[in-house]
Amino acid sequence: MTEVIIVKNEREAGDIYGRSVADLIKTKPNAVLGLATGSSPLAAYQSLARIVHSEHIDVSQVRGFALDEYLGLPLDHPQSYHSTIHRTVVEPLGLNPDLVHVPGDVLDGAPLSDGERIAAAGPAYDKAIEEAGGIDVQILGIGTDGHVGFNEPGSSLASGTRVKTLVEQTRIDNARFFDDDIDKVPTHCITQGIGTILKARHLVLLAFGSGKAEAVAETVEGGVSAFCPASALQMHPHATIIVDEEAASRL
Ligand code: GLP
Repeated sequence: MTEVIIVKNEREAGDIYGRSVADLIKTKPNAVLGLATGSSPLAAYQSLARIVHSEHIDVSQVRGFALDEYLGLPLDHPQSYHSTIHRTVVEPLGLNPDLVHVPGDVLDGAPLSDGERIAAAGPAYDKAIEEAGGIDVQILGIGTDGHVGFNEPGSSLASGTRVKTLVEQTRIDNARFFDDDIDKVPTHCITQGIGTILKARHLVLLAFGSGKAEAVAETVEGGVSAFCPASALQMHPHATIIVDEEAASRL
């Protein structure tokens, strides 16, 4: 079932996520969190960190799996999703970094020519998630074209973690993180598949601003289609979509 919650701002959305994940960790200290990069989840991580610290919640056993990673960036590159997840989630929450995984961790900037190693990383990542008992709560942002993780339009709705090519629009959208220079934005990525994402027990998608309005409308009210990968959330038994009024304006 997809539930849509319209909030005033990112902080209010963040507080809904923060409260529910903090309560989860209290009952399941080794909860498995699905993590995402991008600006949309930042307030949610901040809220969770505030609650964790003010209520002295033990997070030492919390585990995490990120959605995606650029290929070809070394782990310590400031824009690698490895660095981003550590900067925005692991450090503020005080998680054990050894328990938090990003799909490209085993690749560490491996060149695209390293095909076999790169191809093996996806299935190995899905296996690691399964061995951890699956993801309890997966936080998601959405691209302006309806992508989740880096599952661009046309991605198989049954896909597992794998290597993908980034579409031009996503590279343009993300150039802001690379000195506004699209040539510096990697061309490939490794991402959890839609099939991987749908296995999480609870999905929380966050979208803010009018730029996301069309993608949100397609996600919630369009037909389920690979042309809007986020529309696969309609097939999930527990998906929560939290949006501000601008992002909800086409609903
Ligand atoms: C990137 C990420 C996605 C994210 C999207 C939207 O493409 N791979 O996971 O959802 O950006 O980012 P933002 O939340 O900054 O709009």
